[in-house]
Amino acid sequence: MSLAIWVCESDYDFDRVAAEWVAAHLEGPDPVLGLPTGGTPEGLYRELVRMHREEGLSFRSARTFNLDEYVGLAADHAQSYAHYMRERLFRHVDIDPSRTHIPNGLCEDPDEEARRYDALLREHGPIRAQVLGIGSNGHIGFNEPGTAFKTRTHTVQLTEETREANARFFESIDEVPRLAVTMGIANILESEAILLMAKGSSKQEALKRAFTDPPSIDVPASALQTHADVTVLVDREAAVGLAALLSQGPDGS
Ligand code: PGA
Repeated sequence: MSLAIWVCESDYDFDRVAAEWVAAHLEGPDPVLGLPTGGTPEGLYRELVRMHREEGLSFRSARTFNLDEYVGLAADHAQSYAHYMRERLFRHVDIDPSRTHIPNGLCEDPDEEARRYDALLREHGPIRAQVLGIGSNGHIGFNEPGTAFKTRTHTVQLTEETREANARFFESIDEVPRLAVTMGIANILESEAILLMAKGSSKQEALKRAFTDPPSIDVPASALQTHADVTVLVDREAAVGLAALLSQGPDGS
């Protein structure tokens, strides 16, 4: 495992460091980015938009693949990941919308949609730089505990834990979809470089299990231990889960 751990002191640093990592991977011809949604990357997208406006960071030659999408939500539904990405990044930068890929939440056949998305990833991959969050249950994308590491893009039943964690974005938990299409762990592992971002105490245990215990399908993020280029970006609270891997404790002791 080649694992770098970066601990940030402030949200400002966290977002800037993440954005600079992405910007570095936008250099060179035909960059392909893998992108997450959720609460953690919101500041990353704000910072990328700022860098585009103020520093000329360009997405003109980029292609993007989002990790996942809820089944049953239209691209203009306020909680769809297509809407999230458009509002937070795509409509604010110079990316060609035809080069931004997200599974179609309104597909008639989710399994067929997963196959279509996987074929697109094979056509345009490998992803040069994959950004990930981590669920409190250790999921990456919507690869829930128990997902085999060789799994490619597939349809998934969301766990109650994940639906509860995401209910904060909906009017009520009843509105949180039960099904999603997600890139598989194998797709994620094919990326050339991975940045996993985690903030807050709710991620401590998942990080600890993912990076300090042996890899296990019970903790999907532990598959990252088999990848050659992983950077974990954490705030001080999340870093507590990685204390055993840090030369100093996250409180500097
Ligand atoms: P969050 O989600 O950024 O909203 O905590 C992360 C994830 O579930 O992958």
